[in-house]
Formats: sequence, C-alpha cells, structure tokens
Amino acid sequence: MLALVKALHLLALVFGSAASLGNIYLALAAGPHDLPAPGFTNALRKLYRFTALFAILVLWATGLVLMFGEYGWWVPSRAFDIKIAFAILLTAIIFWLNLRATTWARTGGPPPYVKYLHWTGTFSLLMVVTLAVFAFN
Ligand code: HEM
Repeated sequence: MLALVKALHLLALVFGSAASLGNIYLALAAGPHDLPAPGFTNALRKLYRFTALFAILVLWATGLVLMFGEYGWWVPSRAFDIKIAFAILLTAIIFWLNLRATTWARTGGPPPYVKYLHWTGTFSLLMVVTLAVFAFN
C-alpha cells in the first residue's frame, strides 16, 4: 500500500516539474524576438499554475502519509529538515501565484518579480529532490 503512495508521490513530482520547468522555458522564450501570442502563452501559464497547485497538494498528502507510515512523527535527518524547508518555500510560491493570478490578469499582467519567483520555485524543487535522495539513501 505504501508503495502505491510512494508512486503517487513521485508521479506528482513528475507533474510538478513539468509545470515548474514550463514556466522557466516561457521566461527564457520571452523577449524582443518572441512571437506575439499572448492568448496562447496565458493559457499555458494557467495550465502550469493549476498543475503546480495540484502536484504540491498531492506531494504534501502523500509525503505526510509516507512519513507517518514509515518513520513516525518526523524523519530524523538533517537532509529531510532542509528538504521540508524548501518544500514549504515552494508551496508558498505556488499558493501566492495562484492567489494573485486573476488580479494580475485584470490589472495588466504579472509584476516583474514573478519571474524571480519562478526561478526560486524551480531551484527549490531541484533542492527538494536532491535532499530527498540524501535523506532516504
Ligand atoms: C516539493 C515537494 C516534494 C518533492 C519534490 C519530494 C520528492 C521526493 C522524492 C524524489 C523522494 C524519493 C527519495 C528516495 O527514495 O531516494 C521522496 C521521498 C519521500 N518524501 Fe518527498 N517530496 C516532497 C514533499 C514531501 C513532503 C512535504 C513530505 C512529508 C512531510 C515528504 C516525505 C517523504 C518521505 C517520507 C519519503 C520517503 C518514502 C520512502 O522511502 O518510502 N515529501 N520525496
């Protein structure tokens, strides 16, 4: 049973990383050479935003089940402590982007700092995965 939960944990990671890297690729593709396709780009942004939200909720749900099911109240590992710190940062970024997106859509697009949030979120995701391997190997 816990193997199935772990499979869900890793599948959510697959979806989350698609959303995270998708936003980075959009940021890299933007610029003076970019083709004007705002409707298409906004549709992609929305898909990435919802995918990231869905993925992080599944990651927390399955992660907590795995932790309680296999280790008790906490995993005694420094790598796990830092993994959860980065997971919290990533969750805060995803919640903030989902919370503010509709307002930004009405008021002329996301503020410039949003691209730094995407980079920070992707960096956090890479750290979480690396630290998970250190914590559980
Ligand atoms: C961005 C969020 C997260 C990502 C990307 C992530 C990623 C991963 C990965 C890649 C593994 C496999 C590591 C290995 O077996 O070598 C793993 C395992 C695990 N994760 Fe997460 N995780 C996330 C959030 C969480 C949270 C919030 C918790 C708990 C509060 C959690 C608890 C666990 C546990 C207990 C395992 C070990 C499962 C086992 O060995 O059977 N994870 N995670």
